[in-house]
Amino acid sequence: MALYSDKVMDHFQNPRNVGKMDDADGVGEVGNAKCGDIMKMYIKVKDGIITDCKFNTFGCGSAIATSSMATELIKGKKVEDALELSNKAVVEALDGLPAHKIHCSVLAEEAVAAAVKDYYDRNGIAYDPELFSKKLHDCEHCAE
Ligand code: FES
Repeated sequence: MALYSDKVMDHFQNPRNVGKMDDADGVGEVGNAKCGDIMKMYIKVKDGIITDCKFNTFGCGSAIATSSMATELIKGKKVEDALELSNKAVVEALDGLPAHKIHCSVLAEEAVAAAVKDYYDRNGIAYDPELFSKKLHDCEHCAE
């Protein structure tokens, strides 16, 4: 069996929603302390809905594929629903990833959360810090 699914290869070779967004309502940047890869996620929000989403990933193929899939999954969703996006859901949508590449999908989940947090912060929207403390941490061990 091939190491990577057709979907992973497709999103790696033809990533969706790549680029920078100058008028983003929320921007999140996260990095993996172990491999040094960096992911930046931009969201545009209107009436509580994510109307557009872009990303830039300086990282491995799996990180590119997972960020691409993550943008597809959160576009059109309510902001609070995007926060529920798990790395597991991203991996499933890609028809799986090799075990040693699962941590790359965590980066995508974190990048979405960081963009949502930035959106909340910019707009003075109150939130439970717990929501993000589980997702956004600088713990090196979590990069495994
Ligand atoms: Fe760094 Fe994949 S190896 S995110």
